[in-house]
Amino acid sequence: MTTQPIFIRKASQLVTLKGSSNAPLTGEKMRELHIIENGSVWIEDGKIVEVGSDDQLNDKFENRLHEADIIDATGKTVTPGFVDPHTHLVYAGSRENEFEMRLNGSSYMEIMNAGGGIHSTTKATREATEESLFQQSTRRLDLFLRHGVTTVEAKSGYGLSLEHELKQLNVAKKLNEAHPVDIVSTFMGAHAVPAEYKENPDEFVRIVCEEMIPKVSEQKLAEFNDVFCERGVFTPEQSKVILETGRKYGLKPKIHADEIEPYKGAELAAEVGAVSADHLLRASDEGIDAMAKSGVIAVLLPGTAFFLMAEAANGRKMIDRGVPVALSTDCNPGSSPTVSVPFIMNLGCLHMGMTPAEALTAVTINGAHAIGRGKEIGSIEVNKKADIAIFDVPDYRQLIYHYGMNHTDTVIKSGKVVVSRGQLVR
Ligand code: NIG
Ligand code: FE
Repeated sequence: MTTQPIFIRKASQLVTLKGSSNAPLTGEKMRELHIIENGSVWIEDGKIVEVGSDDQLNDKFENRLHEADIIDATGKTVTPGFVDPHTHLVYAGSRENEFEMRLNGSSYMEIMNAGGGIHSTTKATREATEESLFQQSTRRLDLFLRHGVTTVEAKSGYGLSLEHELKQLNVAKKLNEAHPVDIVSTFMGAHAVPAEYKENPDEFVRIVCEEMIPKVSEQKLAEFNDVFCERGVFTPEQSKVILETGRKYGLKPKIHADEIEPYKGAELAAEVGAVSADHLLRASDEGIDAMAKSGVIAVLLPGTAFFLMAEAANGRKMIDRGVPVALSTDCNPGSSPTVSVPFIMNLGCLHMGMTPAEALTAVTINGAHAIGRGKEIGSIEVNKKADIAIFDVPDYRQLIYHYGMNHTDTVIKSGKVVVSRGQLVR
């Protein structure tokens, strides 16, 4: 079945990021957005068919203009739909009580070690039915879409037992089928050592490797395997075993690294050839250089540093040393309860020394590469999936400089309008 073509016309800035599909952008290439002024895009059957100036496209499609749904983007900025490569999308409950505890002086790790934090969301997620998890996560996905996000990665890790990890991953799978936003799943059984294995964490590592990973792989419920490598959670040695086991079962490695303390997580990411190392607030210079050498993408999460009142990762240094950088919300109930990719870009600039162009690259094409989707999404190029966001500002930098605001006007997902005038189209 063919669908009605969509013709986006006369964008003040059409940010294409062309030529970036084969590998993530690094160094000065992160600042080359390939913007077309007075730009237009022709979309058909879910794909981008032509990209160029309005004059060029008007000539080419002159005889078919009457067929198309025309979207006038005069005075607006058009970008690839945002790709958020690190979220903990599927969970139950909320942790504003811990927010208040932290404001009164408790630390994130103190709360977690006293049975709160990840453990409290694990309890709520284990108790929730699939239906309730589905509903709670749908609400977050709707909000993502309204902020211009068309693809998210989603981690398990609030089940921490075979039954409940599979439940979380199954909810992600159903959401992917039911919701316009695409979801790429990551297994993260090693998100915390559950209370029942506190005295015997190695036994939990064994269960992750021998019971959970084989089942997740057999049921094709995830593409990636992640571990929280942090003092008091999983050691670099345990993390290595978990990531290498995952790889044997076809799950590509990712790692939560050097978030709270320097712990040689970046070095481990390079050693195991992880697709990405995420957080990296306290990554060592040696670790950063090792990542650059082996092409590990740094997924930086400045919202988490902001919300935990910590010093953000040094994005500037990483880019200057040749590490490909992506940015993400880390959307989760404890350390970063947000879906606002525009705010994350603002923090990337203000707290990590990135330029607005680098920040936009980091939430589009580099985000796509961080979840293995660089060839399909993340730039506006012929034959790519028609995932496009239109913002009611004439210059992409305004998206980032107007902090804490949402300028999303229209979102097109797989060639269909799913947000119009900022509202979801049902
Ligand atoms: O990426 N660092 C570990 N995991 C999450 C937080 C999870 C939570 O607090 O619920 C993160 O920040
Ligand atoms: Fe995370």
